[in-house]
Amino acid sequence: MSERPYVIDEMISAKAIAARIEELCNAIHEEFRDTDKLIVVGLLRGSFVFIADLVRELDLPVEVDFLEASSYGDSMESSREVRILKDLRGQIEGRDVLVVEDIVDTGHTLKHVTRLLKSRKPGRMRTIALLDKPSRRETDVAADWIGFSIPDEFVVGYGIDYAQRNRNLPYIGKVRFPDA
Ligand code: IMP
Repeated sequence: MSERPYVIDEMISAKAIAARIEELCNAIHEEFRDTDKLIVVGLLRGSFVFIADLVRELDLPVEVDFLEASSYGDSMESSREVRILKDLRGQIEGRDVLVVEDIVDTGHTLKHVTRLLKSRKPGRMRTIALLDKPSRRETDVAADWIGFSIPDEFVVGYGIDYAQRNRNLPYIGKVRFPDA
């Protein structure tokens, strides 16, 4: 945990997030309306709040599974090397899959995970990310749906952490160091 004091400035309100999730779910319904059972795969840990709100807005038969990939550790920089720390419990072969990510930053995580899941031969696979930082991209990956595109700021809240803290904030805020 960083000892350096920081403050959090609200960037996206809880109300704006809820409104955007409703819009995203309309698009997801449209795409998956004929599916027998959609497997919603949350990438731990940052997506746990987003996935909880998302599935409750989805009027589709869904299963939820989780996968954990390594990313930032406790720092503010991506490690770029992606390792699977926890794999899915279930099989996805022939099944429709929605991968849920909190933030697409460099894109290494989403690229690695989608490549891995595609090798398991799912049916239709789509990706959704709550936040996108396009200016940080180092790969050619893009999520099918994005909640909000944001500038190159370090953000926390709504499931997203800084050194494991602030996940419980109901909004997305940006981290600022007053001594900087
Ligand atoms: P990528 O592989 O660089 O796209 O990183 C994706 C992961 O890095 C996300 O799933 C987050 O866990 C983490 N991450 C990226 N940006 C931020 C941020 O601003 N705050 C907290 N975590 C972040």
